[in-house]
Amino acid sequence: MKPNDPKAGPPGPEALLQLQFAMAPARILATGVQLSVFTHIAQGTTSADKIAKAASANERAMRMLLDALTAFQLLSKKGSTYGLSPLAADFLVEGKPDYMGEFLGSDRMWESWTSLDKVVRTGKPLHKVEAKEAAEQFFPVLVKSLHVMNRDAARRTAEALVAGRKGLRVIDVACGSGVWGIAVAEADRDARVTAQDFPVVLETTKVYLERHKVTPRFDFLPGDLKEVDYGKDRYDVALLGNIVHSEGEKSSRALFGKLAKALRPGGKIAVIDMIPNDERTGPPFPLIFALNMLLHTELGDCYTLDEYTRWLREAGFGKVDTVDIGSHSPLIVGTKA
Ligand SMILES: C[S@@+](CC[C@H](N)C(=O)[O-])C[C@H]1O[C@@H](n2cnc3c(N)ncnc32)[C@H](O)[C@@H]1O
Repeated sequence: MKPNDPKAGPPGPEALLQLQFAMAPARILATGVQLSVFTHIAQGTTSADKIAKAASANERAMRMLLDALTAFQLLSKKGSTYGLSPLAADFLVEGKPDYMGEFLGSDRMWESWTSLDKVVRTGKPLHKVEAKEAAEQFFPVLVKSLHVMNRDAARRTAEALVAGRKGLRVIDVACGSGVWGIAVAEADRDARVTAQDFPVVLETTKVYLERHKVTPRFDFLPGDLKEVDYGKDRYDVALLGNIVHSEGEKSSRALFGKLAKALRPGGKIAVIDMIPNDERTGPPFPLIFALNMLLHTELGDCYTLDEYTRWLREAGFGKVDTVDIGSHSPLIVGTKA
């Protein structure tokens, strides 16, 4: 169903069933990961009966699961032999460097979303992932998947921000794996990057810095982004990757103000987030993600380009541009006057 496509005409009742069953693919993917189906196939176990045995599962049930995974193009099927699609081979096989199963196989999201009715009634979140203890538990797992998902967008972001310049001073706020800062460090071999996040999460960041061989060019600013001192006229670029949506308006606007001070004249703030249209009628993903923030944070939401433009200008970024980074939403770049 395409709820925002006017040419599609009014949806019929089948669209309602499709919406209701939209939960099934999520369970099919999670179950495939939980039963290590992709790993068994990668190890050469390719028939339903043998995969069922390896996974300690029921044979008839496993055949149904494998067929459904095939329908979603995670598996291929020839006769009674199953194979991995390139997507599954890259991201769903345990032990591979880009394995995303820790997050995709977790029931955490599922459990939260079943309480959406309660949360919409009360307006109170189930979890506050932005609080230090919760963040230090949750984010080291999430940021591994985010790293894989954002790697290409980060390269394009770095190209746009570096634009041939050398020796940039960069702050990567709430850096997670460091995916955005690492991309800048790779695009500008003389860049120096300060990685900011909670101390436990920075231990995960360090693993990625080593992997990308950029450790010597990184400094660390551990702590709560609301409390750390960003200084004055210190940086050329401030990166804010996927953090505004969990902070909410008030904290994010305060952060824009602090970063405006921390940037040198002509310095750039780069915001990467999920951005709905200005009327907040679509596309679906940022609006779904806004509800995800309702469930998981105190004040989080997804904001429109119009809102970002206003807030960044008020914080001292005279010019606000967007750049297509091949992602669901454009990169927003504010330039300090
Ligand atoms: C959704 S992840 C994004 C990570 C990374 N920027 C990216 O785009 O992949 C959010 C990150 O913000 C960090 N974070 C959340 N609230 C924070 C806070 N109040 N202070 C510092 N870091 C915070 C989390 O630890 C996590 O690494």
